[in-house]
Amino acid sequence: MTKEINFDELKYSDKSGIYTDVIKYAVEIIKGENSLVANLANISSLLKNAFDYFLWTGFYLYDKKTNELVLGPFQGKVACTRIPLGKGVCGTSALERKTIIVEDVNKFPGHIFCDSSSKSEIVVPVFRANRLFGVLDIDSGNYSAFGDVDRIYLEELIGKIIYLFDE
Ligand code: SME
Repeated sequence: MTKEINFDELKYSDKSGIYTDVIKYAVEIIKGENSLVANLANISSLLKNAFDYFLWTGFYLYDKKTNELVLGPFQGKVACTRIPLGKGVCGTSALERKTIIVEDVNKFPGHIFCDSSSKSEIVVPVFRANRLFGVLDIDSGNYSAFGDVDRIYLEELIGKIIYLFDE
């Protein structure tokens, strides 16, 4: 994939259009490339640049030796390196194996702050056949930035890239 993607030049009527393109570009970018780090870094960048109200986009990867999530490729401010399973929004999503949408991070008990401007968050677990690989985490500077549309498309994105984690 060599073509530069300029989301500003594309005309979108809604979120669905943006996500559809993000997924299309993600699939194109990872095709034929087997570096997990490179692929997750590019997907983090795609997501961060697609939506101007996304503050932080990235992956935490599961370390089964310590039962923690460890910071992986991301875009945004410096973030906490390790999150135990069950802690914060990321650790809860990983433990429960379900997508969590937080409309106001101040109201989520145990929410872990990495950026004080973060107002809402979505965390999508990355797992297959009960094997946990990590989570995709997105923070927004707006309250209630995420809903079912985000969940559906982000879960679809994870479904399309899950094979990368097989190694
Ligand atoms: N807010 C997350 C921590 C990770 S940062 O947002 C990048 C949490 O509560 O798990």
